[in-house]
Amino acid sequence: MAAALQTNIPPVKVPATFRAVKKQSFAPFRVRCAVASPGNKRYNITLLPGDGIGPEVVSIAKNVLQQAGSLEGVEFSFREMPIGGAALDLVGVPLPEETIAAAKESDALLLGAIGGYKWDNNEKHLRPETGLLQIRAALKVFANLRPATVLPQLVDASTLKRQVAEGVDLMVVRELTGGIYFGEPRGIKTNENGEEVGFNTEVYAAHEIDRIARVAFETARKRRGKLCSVDKANVLEASILWRKRVTALASEYPDVELSHMYVDNAAMQLVRDPKQFDTIVTNNIFGDILSDEASMITGSIGMLPSASLSDSGPGLFEPIHGSAPDIAGQDKANPLATILSAAMLLKYGLGEEKAAKRIEDAVLVALNNGFRTGDIYSAGTKLVGCKEMGEEVLKSVDSQVPASV
Ligand code: IPM
Ligand code: MG
Repeated sequence: MAAALQTNIPPVKVPATFRAVKKQSFAPFRVRCAVASPGNKRYNITLLPGDGIGPEVVSIAKNVLQQAGSLEGVEFSFREMPIGGAALDLVGVPLPEETIAAAKESDALLLGAIGGYKWDNNEKHLRPETGLLQIRAALKVFANLRPATVLPQLVDASTLKRQVAEGVDLMVVRELTGGIYFGEPRGIKTNENGEEVGFNTEVYAAHEIDRIARVAFETARKRRGKLCSVDKANVLEASILWRKRVTALASEYPDVELSHMYVDNAAMQLVRDPKQFDTIVTNNIFGDILSDEASMITGSIGMLPSASLSDSGPGLFEPIHGSAPDIAGQDKANPLATILSAAMLLKYGLGEEKAAKRIEDAVLVALNNGFRTGDIYSAGTKLVGCKEMGEEVLKSVDSQVPASV
């Protein structure tokens, strides 16, 4: 993730936004974001700005969230907590206990990004990424929804030919708390020949497959009714069980058309003919890879939001892009993925569909008005920075102009 937006390796430099995070005391603070009115719904949101461009995009998305909420009678209390490199610098661990406690108490979480050159050589347990994996595990957010939609306004930003990219609208449902990311045994040891060996375990229990498959069938049912399960059942036992369980569940969803595809073929089909896909369900590592691939079809990884959901507790909402340390603190980041993650937070995390729609529409209006950050810029459009793009979306949230795609 962190590498996805990096274009070069600049000297390690602490961006201004990051210094601001560092300077603040660790004591969590609450910001009352709307004048409390009786009758309004109130939610507690934990903000996890993280590293690199994370603080820039989260502060913009927070304003948009607040504004869209206030127009729909929804108020928020925001609490900002450290994670990733920011937490390492502050307290020496990538996910402090206090962050976990705040996360569990909240109604939903909005995360920016984690990681940066500064911590790249840290031992694994002291890497920013470890904080992200730990919070996913702590919140048990096993279902990761990663939509990839090619907006008509951005079709020319895709690296694929217009006729291939146009109209793509797919959803990757990625299993997020199991598989090789978490499987035991794992480690690096020295074998009998004195040679170092690194090893991990791809492991899925039946209940883990069933619960993610159910989320995927339900998701497909609300979309175009097509579900493609991606695995490597020609080689891996974990995938053989995956295919067996997904197939067995299909009879409960007769309205969903299920197909199976090997992951290597899926990677190829995604660039050959992405329109064949509606909903894709897959394991943790294949989902990581395929969702990055799918994001490029849409023109920029800077456009894609995600939702990580558990059975009951709060959901975690984050852009799928990384911390982009090469552009951090320069007002160049595209805030739209985080703004759209705020829309997913409203929709999937809080059930506030109207406020979510306001944000989605506002993003379309800003794009229709020609505003583009560098990653989605094309001739004839207006190049803006992160802040200005945020302001344009805010204006559109306010103006309530119905957006047509
Ligand atoms: C993602 C990222 C993470 C992952 C990294 C940063 C641990 O790539 O969210 O896709 O591999 O899940
Ligand atoms: Mg990734």
